[in-house]
Amino acid sequence: SNTSKGSVTWKTPSNIALVKYWGKQEPQIPENTSISFTLDACFTLTTLEFSKKENNSNDFNFGIYFEGKKKDDFKPKINKFFERIQQYVPFLKDFEFVIKSRNSFPHSSGIASSASGMSALALCIMSLERSLGKVEMSDDYFNKKASFLARLGSGSACRSIEGELIVWGNHKEIDGSSNLYGVKFPYKIHENFRNYHDTILLVDEGVKQVSSTIGHQLMHNHPFAKQRFNQANDNISMISKVLQSGNLKEFIAIVESEALSLHAMMMTSNPYFILMKPNTLKIINKIWEFRINTKSNICFTLDAGANVHVLFPESEKERVNNFIINELIQYCQENHYICDRIGHGAKRL
Ligand code: PMV
Repeated sequence: SNTSKGSVTWKTPSNIALVKYWGKQEPQIPENTSISFTLDACFTLTTLEFSKKENNSNDFNFGIYFEGKKKDDFKPKINKFFERIQQYVPFLKDFEFVIKSRNSFPHSSGIASSASGMSALALCIMSLERSLGKVEMSDDYFNKKASFLARLGSGSACRSIEGELIVWGNHKEIDGSSNLYGVKFPYKIHENFRNYHDTILLVDEGVKQVSSTIGHQLMHNHPFAKQRFNQANDNISMISKVLQSGNLKEFIAIVESEALSLHAMMMTSNPYFILMKPNTLKIINKIWEFRINTKSNICFTLDAGANVHVLFPESEKERVNNFIINELIQYCQENHYICDRIGHGAKRL
């Protein structure tokens, strides 16, 4: 075909890692394998408008609107992304683009939007490539290449193409796994994890003091780096079995240890830093207390920030929701929280 003008829209989810990615080599090759739940309520909606360039400039031509407003301060990041992926999508320079993007979650919520944002843009570019019709493309190829491109924008974004559980990073016990893109967890997932919940408690809605870019860099020459990467890879082996067996006690032990190990890496790097807030610890202690008192399978995980992700099975949703509302919301900034759950991946609209 000779597509010269058009637009494409993708809705792509955020994701929350169960075994964390922290540490990489160029070009966005993870030091260890990670696995995440794809989310549902936290998503980015991106429309890519494209038209054939009139001029023959050798620059990337694009404008960017975020939440309805022109957002030139996002340009350097997108330009860098285009530069990184240019060799894989050489048609980019033939077009002028307008990128229009918005998130379902508040901009300053402290929820990382890079995963959903970069995966949305990667999928839009893949739809453009498909419409150009130069190569025959299976859905599998489409998803893998979208994940590959998203990875070059933000590592964890490669886990935001499909659902429900995505593995990124080559691992001997995960068939088909790769350092270059995320793949669906290839084994049958136990029904205990069906519709698993993730209620995100917004402890601190501010911009975090240390970016994940810096955090990854600090894993170079980190005194515990090697042990950490081994630990994560061992945890992948264990969680792979747990996801198939449905053993929630073991699931909890791995997931909480991963969250605290991630933050332990931050506290022991040079320079060191702490992203948790007093209320993060208050919530963690409340969750532990509730678990002991009620034999619930509630647990927590953390991203690179102060917010707490509260994970629990569908079967416990009523009593855990009551607990969250009655006891945990008070530690959130302005009582803000987001009820999310495991999701099925990106959708073209
Ligand atoms: O994708 P990045 O470079 O923003 O790194 C994200 C790292 C963590 O969110 C802390 C962990 C993970 O695996 O998602």
